[in-house]
Amino acid sequence: MAILNVQHVNKNFGGLKALDDVNLSVNESTVHAIIGPNGAGKSTLLNCFIGRLKPDSGAIDFDNQSLLGIKPHEINQAGISRVFQTPEIFSDISLLENVMIPAFARRDGAYEFNAWGSVAKEGEIRDRAMAMLEEVGLEHQAHNISSQLSRGDKRRLELAMCLVQKPRLLLLDEPTAGMARADTNNTIDLLRSIADRGLTMVVIEHDMHVVFSLADKISVLAQGAVIAEDLPEKIKGNQKVQDAYLGGAHDE
Ligand SMILES: Nc1ncnc2c1ncn2[C@@H]1O[C@H](COP(=O)(O)OP(=O)(O)O)[C@@H](O)[C@H]1O
Ligand SMILES: [Mg+2]
Repeated sequence: MAILNVQHVNKNFGGLKALDDVNLSVNESTVHAIIGPNGAGKSTLLNCFIGRLKPDSGAIDFDNQSLLGIKPHEINQAGISRVFQTPEIFSDISLLENVMIPAFARRDGAYEFNAWGSVAKEGEIRDRAMAMLEEVGLEHQAHNISSQLSRGDKRRLELAMCLVQKPRLLLLDEPTAGMARADTNNTIDLLRSIADRGLTMVVIEHDMHVVFSLADKISVLAQGAVIAEDLPEKIKGNQKVQDAYLGGAHDE
């Protein structure tokens, strides 16, 4: 069943058609990759999902609710979390504190209450945040200051900050950008294990190794238009896709 439905979405920047009649549907508990050459419109589309950009026309529905005209924090509360291309974390506090902040407010905006009706004790929040750090393999650095993390570890921290909100849809914009191969492979394994537990993901990525390791379905964007949407093995042999990559400016 589709949890995210994108229909006939258009977005212009001045004379430039950044998104050209984009259609896409993401099925629940699958990983849907969006690939395409640099400038194809991938980030623009993701920004439309989270309310940072407003399409000129078209529809975007999440769980049968329109995402158009509602605010970014309301979209987050509806269950959509995103990991940015550049991690956005607080560098002056510890990893644990970074994860505790989104844990304090649940994604529906309500504070977490315990059985006695009082706001959940700091200890419970701390335990949950620590469990998330374990999940992403950062528990040994929980009390370190976040600024000294490697790029790959910052991404893992941001992932923990997303997961602690218990999202229903996770959006990832180039989750392995700038990572060395070993770090990339660790990230693939981590995302794979999260996906295997049923979390729906949309991942923008131009590293084909990452795409083919994770994706259940792939949409290919070129010059703002979806030129193919298919299973990974079908995309590999698609002539239009090969032409778009060979003919256009490639990201790598
Ligand atoms: N805020 C903006 N204003 C004007 N043009 C933009 C803006 N954001 C993106 N673009 C243009 O829209 C096109 C798609 O960009 P983008 O979505 O970032 O591509 P991708 O993420 O696939 O590399 C590019 O030509 C880019 O220069
Ligand atoms: Mg981009």
